[in-house]
Amino acid sequence: MIKINEHHQKLQASYLFANINKRVREFQQKHPERDLIWLGIGDVTQPLPAACISAFHKAVDELASARTFRGYGPEQGYDFLRETIASHDFQLRGADIQADEIFVSDGAKCDVGNFQELFATDIRVAITDPVYPVYVDTNVMAGRTEAFQDGRYPGLVYLDCTPENGYSPQLPREPADLIYLCSPNNPTGATMTREQLQAWVDYARENRSLILFDAAYEAFIRDDQLVHSIYEIPGAQDVAVEFRSFSKTAGFTGVRCAYAVVPKRCTAYTAAGKPVSVRDLWLRRHTTKFNGVSYPVQRAAEAVYSPEGQQEVRKLIDYYLTNAAYVRESFQRMGVACVGGDNSPYIWVRTDRDSWEFFDFLLDKAGVVCTPGAGFGRCGERHIRISAFNSYENIQQAMQRIAGVLQAQSPSSLSR
Ligand code: MLT
Repeated sequence: MIKINEHHQKLQASYLFANINKRVREFQQKHPERDLIWLGIGDVTQPLPAACISAFHKAVDELASARTFRGYGPEQGYDFLRETIASHDFQLRGADIQADEIFVSDGAKCDVGNFQELFATDIRVAITDPVYPVYVDTNVMAGRTEAFQDGRYPGLVYLDCTPENGYSPQLPREPADLIYLCSPNNPTGATMTREQLQAWVDYARENRSLILFDAAYEAFIRDDQLVHSIYEIPGAQDVAVEFRSFSKTAGFTGVRCAYAVVPKRCTAYTAAGKPVSVRDLWLRRHTTKFNGVSYPVQRAAEAVYSPEGQQEVRKLIDYYLTNAAYVRESFQRMGVACVGGDNSPYIWVRTDRDSWEFFDFLLDKAGVVCTPGAGFGRCGERHIRISAFNSYENIQQAMQRIAGVLQAQSPSSLSR
């Protein structure tokens, strides 16, 4: 008899964004005439930068000739891309990251979900609440938790991010071995300061823990005081793995390209306490389970770093940041408390109402799709997330509709 991995039975019925899609589809079936504006999942809407398109075309043409054709590429990624990433994203910022510490992949979601496979089942995993659900669900699947209870999985260490602490995770009271941090944060849009990150790196060094640092939204940072990489923090190379993505940076959500940085100095331990290179473990796993990102996609990603690519990407991010500022300022004008949207495409809005109920309310009354905060964890309750990934016109229209329906409602139910 084929038996299942029982831990999968502990998962919520469906993944958050699949659940939202299902609800919206049902709504659309009932109300086909309604014109909905999607500010839910963070999926880009603007076309790829011209520099990427042209590199993409050129690479496809190379595959059309026997002389320049390429079959399997290196699992870790082509040198041309890894060297460009190491120099541009890290060395230029004073972080000594080498090309052989970069692993090109088809998405940060997969990397951040797969990475926990390297570690023992009985490690203590710390996650923020609210959190990107992939961190939680993959640890549930791996058997690191008990069954879901009162909105949480016993066995995980939850780091509450609330209005009281500025949505910033505080160091845990109990020891944690694997720590997931995300900055600029999905879903809250909050960013961690250099000092806060230094405290986490110091904690990880003291406790021989490992930080999985999700920097998928790094390109949205505009504040010069903020670091773009955890490796700008002294000591981080011993205790942190970083995840980056071209999805939100350059519009690659459908094209698929990302990378993980696993420094050679990063260490984990055997049960007997013997140090083991995390990079070597990941290299072994990556080369066994992954056959590389396609050549044209890697050429398109390389083009992000060309002078034209850099200009175009900056324009693209500015576009979404203008949207985000519009959303934030609109809520502020309505007297509704929110954070994010300055160094992030997400705005985290305090509704002080049940978040799924508020999701249904916005869908029904305003025709706007948001993401209910409770989908990101218990501390996400009474919040919603608004994504700035849409056209400026749609963002304006969505905010006008929201202002209209909130005005028509008793405003006292919203946080001020
Ligand atoms: C989100 O909306 O949280 C993200 O788009 C999901 C993802 O990047 O996988």
